[in-house]
Amino acid sequence: MKFGYFDDLSREYVITQPDTPLPWINYLGCEAYFGIISNTAGGYSFYRDARLRRITRYRYNNVPMDFGGRYIYLRDNESKEFWSPSWQPTRNDLTDYTCRHGMGYSVIGSSYDGIEAHTRYFVPLGENLEVWQLTVTNKRATKASISAFSSIEFCLWDAQDDATNFQRNFNTGQVEVEDGVIYHKTEYRERRNHFAYFGCSEPLAGFDTQRDAFLGPYNGWDKPAAVAAGHLTNSIAHGWSPIGAHQVKLELAPGETRQIVFVLGYHENPVDQKFDPPGSQTINKKTVKPTIAKYLDPKQADAAFEQLRQYWESVLGIFQVNTPDIHTNRMVNIWNAYQCMATFNMSRSASFYESGIGRGLGFRDSNQDLLGFVHMAPARARERILDLAATQLPTGGAYHQYQPLTKRGNNDIGGGFNDDPHWLIIGVSAYLKETGDWSILDAPVQYDNEPGSEQPLYEHLQRSFNYTLSRLGPHGLPLIGRADWNDCLNLNCFSDTPGQSFQTTTNKEGKVAESVFIAGLFVLAGRELAAIASHRDLKAEADKYLAESAKMEKITLDSGWDGEWFLRAYDDFGGKIGSKECKEGKIFIESNGFCTLAGIGLDDGKAASALAAVNQQLATKHGIVVQQPAYTHYYIEMGEISSYPPGYKENAGVFCHVNPWVMIGETRLGHGDLAFDYYSRINPSAREEISDLHRCEPYVYAQMIAGRDAPSFGEAKNSWLTGTAAWNYYAIVQWILGIRTSLEGLQIAPVIPTNWPGFTATRTFRGVVYKISIERKGNGNQIALTVDGSPIKGNIVPPPTGGQKEVTVKGILS
Ligand code: BGC
Ligand code: NOJ
Repeated sequence: MKFGYFDDLSREYVITQPDTPLPWINYLGCEAYFGIISNTAGGYSFYRDARLRRITRYRYNNVPMDFGGRYIYLRDNESKEFWSPSWQPTRNDLTDYTCRHGMGYSVIGSSYDGIEAHTRYFVPLGENLEVWQLTVTNKRATKASISAFSSIEFCLWDAQDDATNFQRNFNTGQVEVEDGVIYHKTEYRERRNHFAYFGCSEPLAGFDTQRDAFLGPYNGWDKPAAVAAGHLTNSIAHGWSPIGAHQVKLELAPGETRQIVFVLGYHENPVDQKFDPPGSQTINKKTVKPTIAKYLDPKQADAAFEQLRQYWESVLGIFQVNTPDIHTNRMVNIWNAYQCMATFNMSRSASFYESGIGRGLGFRDSNQDLLGFVHMAPARARERILDLAATQLPTGGAYHQYQPLTKRGNNDIGGGFNDDPHWLIIGVSAYLKETGDWSILDAPVQYDNEPGSEQPLYEHLQRSFNYTLSRLGPHGLPLIGRADWNDCLNLNCFSDTPGQSFQTTTNKEGKVAESVFIAGLFVLAGRELAAIASHRDLKAEADKYLAESAKMEKITLDSGWDGEWFLRAYDDFGGKIGSKECKEGKIFIESNGFCTLAGIGLDDGKAASALAAVNQQLATKHGIVVQQPAYTHYYIEMGEISSYPPGYKENAGVFCHVNPWVMIGETRLGHGDLAFDYYSRINPSAREEISDLHRCEPYVYAQMIAGRDAPSFGEAKNSWLTGTAAWNYYAIVQWILGIRTSLEGLQIAPVIPTNWPGFTATRTFRGVVYKISIERKGNGNQIALTVDGSPIKGNIVPPPTGGQKEVTVKGILS
């Protein structure tokens, strides 16, 4: 069953039924000002940091789940009936409801009693504000007298404090209203120099800024007293809960259309120019009034929207493909790339499943997100890499996350995850392959944000690598630390206290528990680092990295091998995890996927054997599960993984992030059919028809699909912010379609399904447009390339030497 459809030409998903199984959301903004918006206009906005600069309030874990947002109400002033064109919060029986989620905007609307209304929400490029363009049309044969109301609830900035510290916060709220613009200025009188504003393009019939005055003491957002009464009360908030609401009266002739623009924004004043007149307590608004005026003008708003459209046109234009598979085309060309932008911007901080107060930008996560993002905005990727590296510890280890506003690392969600440092090497390598910008390696970067500790980025990479060399266990495999990629494999934790966080509780300084996954990651990182070193003519260093990498590969093949597949780990007692000797958790996806992705065991059949076992034991019709059999008990020596009921999350759920490791592994074995089959099993668009089972948005990946041990097998959870976005993008584009960045140039090595006659693609790479067409003439993966008509040796297209801006590449697969 579906709840909408893809409009690929407009790059939109069109939701045609408001009561989707879960809120189906979109992101507004892609630079500093962000909003989350659901298909019923639920959600909230923030500036840079969802925790520290929350602009509007949102109540998570609400009933219904999605409640509170950017709500518009319309009221027929004659019948006195009122409704919301976005369905929530009034939930009237609307006709023609649609929500069009597009690239950085959403348009939500419907018809009710002959009044058609829709609102376009977006964030203009380069601005810290959002525009709501409400269009109302009278489709009746008679004239209509309508009141339109806007509404938002301000958050008192720190979302965590806002949701908990009521004894203080009920006293601090302050606003100003000037020329119909509502200014939210809680704490501006003291240490803050920022405020929010909410303006309207039309003359107001009234406004409200005190929540109780708008809603009435016992009403919810579905029945605001002032809307029901037909007039706002011009309330001024003192303490309690400041809100913003405008009322505009519209007299509409039959067929007449009117547009009202609302602008909600964030502004910072220079500290010495906070007040106007100086010495007063009144916000200096001179600095922001021109901006507000600009976007309240519908023509300017339209122009900004057009710019946003062009921006996405050019970003997505960097890579476009035309394959025989519509789901591949639409995900690669539109939605998967778009989701990569969201994961890059948000890491795992703010979605409908990540509350925006729990997690900042993850070190491991953000580095991996680069794999799917770097081509879209290399300059921003560079900045991110340098920010991440500046939080690295002098030991080479890493804070697990940092807050985007302060850019400082913290241990709020734990530390000592021994895989973390290696992802920096993977991220930097992806950046170098994309850009060829070797200068980044010489950029001076602090350790732990300590001034004076600057060293070239290259040294950070060395320390990342060496971090593992000084943390090896009894078999010579890397010690796991708190956990590796799998946050829930807490082999040194031994938690027996209810409510204790597996992520942050004191860990044993374990010297026994080892990770075969980190071994695979180390082998790959070592090779990448060696390639970087040899490019810098550091031959001895390159040899050292290669030697360490080869040594670890051998250890993995010896001590990390279970006979038919790779082990997952050794526990604190030296016992095997992910072995046929285990009762539960006999085989895991991560070590088998990543080791084969890294090329371990390709020559001696072990990679093939491991992935065959994955296929037999872990692959399901809804994707590949983390491990089997699922843990049915809590194992204290295993940690959080065994805390989840079987089939969910890391305990045998389909963790979509790691499925691409197996896809890539299969391409390394030359198995295009199986790689693509795995890709399709979790491709959200390919799952659209089962939206009633899948439940999450069909246009973006979710972190997890319940595994076969779960009663809700096939149900997705935790959509949007997941490493799944980058890894799937990387797997399909670089390994299955095989259009791969390398230090030497663009490599073309498709491993596509045998029944594909070929495909075409356009890729802008280092300033050159590559027009690529691949034709299948045989069933294998052998490629013969011609570049501008001349055959070349190998599969790396050399960068054009004559300043050429376009290159035609033809590939014949046999
Ligand atoms: C989840 C992980 C998550 C971790 C860190 C765990 O409870 O299962 O997926 O990464 O928490 O927040
Ligand atoms: C989600 C985290 O963001 C990611 O870093 C981790 O690898 C996975 N969970 C698996 O535990």
